[in-house]
Amino acid sequence: MKKKDKIVIYDTTLRDGEQSPGASMNIKEKLEVARQLVRLNVDAIEAGFPISSPGDFEAVKGIASEINGPIISGLARSLKKDIDCAAEAVKKAKRKRIHVFLATSKIHMKYKLKKAEEEILSQAVEAVKYAKKFCKDIEFSPEDASRTESKFLARVVEAVVKAGATTVNIPDTVGYAIPGEFANTIKYLFENVSNIDKAVISVHCHNDLGLAVSNSLAAVINGARQVECTVNGIGERAGNCSIEEIVMGIKTRGDYFRCYTDVKTEEIIKTSRLVSRITGIVVQPNKAVVGENAFAHEAGIHQDGILKSRKTYEIMKPQDVGVEKTKLVLGKHSGRHAFKERIKSLGFKLSDKDFEKAFSRFKILSDKKKTIYDEDLITIVNDEIAEIKEVYKFQTLNISYKTGDIPKVSVTLEKDKVKIAKDASGDGPVDAIYKAIDKITKIKGSLLNYGIHSVTEGKDALGEVIVKVDFGSGRIVNGRGASTDIVEASAKAYLNAVNKVISGKTSRKRSRLI
Ligand code: KIV
Ligand code: ZN
Repeated sequence: MKKKDKIVIYDTTLRDGEQSPGASMNIKEKLEVARQLVRLNVDAIEAGFPISSPGDFEAVKGIASEINGPIISGLARSLKKDIDCAAEAVKKAKRKRIHVFLATSKIHMKYKLKKAEEEILSQAVEAVKYAKKFCKDIEFSPEDASRTESKFLARVVEAVVKAGATTVNIPDTVGYAIPGEFANTIKYLFENVSNIDKAVISVHCHNDLGLAVSNSLAAVINGARQVECTVNGIGERAGNCSIEEIVMGIKTRGDYFRCYTDVKTEEIIKTSRLVSRITGIVVQPNKAVVGENAFAHEAGIHQDGILKSRKTYEIMKPQDVGVEKTKLVLGKHSGRHAFKERIKSLGFKLSDKDFEKAFSRFKILSDKKKTIYDEDLITIVNDEIAEIKEVYKFQTLNISYKTGDIPKVSVTLEKDKVKIAKDASGDGPVDAIYKAIDKITKIKGSLLNYGIHSVTEGKDALGEVIVKVDFGSGRIVNGRGASTDIVEASAKAYLNAVNKVISGKTSRKRSRLI
């Protein structure tokens, strides 16, 4: 069987990635990302476009002076002043590269550069020769290569390799290519450029049609041995080929691609989070490899499969990308198996009858709530499987409260069809309400925990309050209450706890901690 080929990972987060609207990084931030890229073990870092701004020049210079390991590359147009600037910026790097580019598509030559093919060809050659005076490692990119006429593209590639380019990068600058078509472009170059074996063929794909990774992989199958990519796929417009997807694609399907990378994949999640934090670009939850949900399962059938063997529904190990473990999200699609596992992991052992009861409560709750928290499950198991008699019923609530004043409340409850009202004041409205309830019920509780979250979405969302109350003598009870008015939800939650205590139905009689 053919030995696997290495794919050079050229990270351009600090250059093309930084071209994402709003993603600008300062020198300190760029250095922080560069240090993490070293830990990720990328082969090359495109540190910036030195002529574009004094800040970019300083950043490339700083990275070139400090960072050891990967090649440090600086971008330059095919102009002497750009190349001088890039050469100066990368000068201190132990392993340096100058990346020169020039557009070769008809559209770019006519409208942007206003130059004919022959002029472009000689400018590209001159630029490579000039850059070669500063550095042995030269990359050349015929910008908009995917929309460049094939014969001309082959001529340019052959000429720049002859001039000394050691890597020739084929960019799909506007994300226009389709995998089969882009594969043919690379194949065509391998078949029609006589000196192609003298350079590494690279690809640089944009994601305008969501095909950046697919196009890059199609190029790899056809001989490309360097892929340019960015962390989280950030970059100009819809972004670039994402490093995590290309690397994990090659690793997971090494059998198919017969290639490998040297990336330390366990560093992927850390890198993704760092870049997201620094650039402020949030990673979508369903993003492949690094999204919040990439290793989360909610469907009952999937959760059951995962619990039997992870391989049933996971093609990558979460630990391989630095994620601690698979997440089984409990929601309305979850089944018995996952519910049982979570209940067990929370330390409960239930009889079959109680388990069935708890499970059906969970199913009812999961139809109403977006997220089921462990706290919800504890409440279900500890309290809700017990029958609760509503001894005190909530009636009305009157509150007078101005910022800075001590809140005063009047609470009315009903017991045995008799209404009882009491006033109280407290540190805050909730404290005052709980004091008024204590006065009516003559049971004193102290609040151990108070949590609130929305059950539904929007401004008129139903707020749910969950409280944990200590009524003394080891009677610690959870209570819950829901209302569109969060103050009322707070009162109902506390009253729910009170009623549980009065009913004497606390968890410990019906379930036990293992
Ligand atoms: O997208 C592009 O063509 C580029 C080049 C400079 C490589 O970013
Ligand atoms: Zn680009």
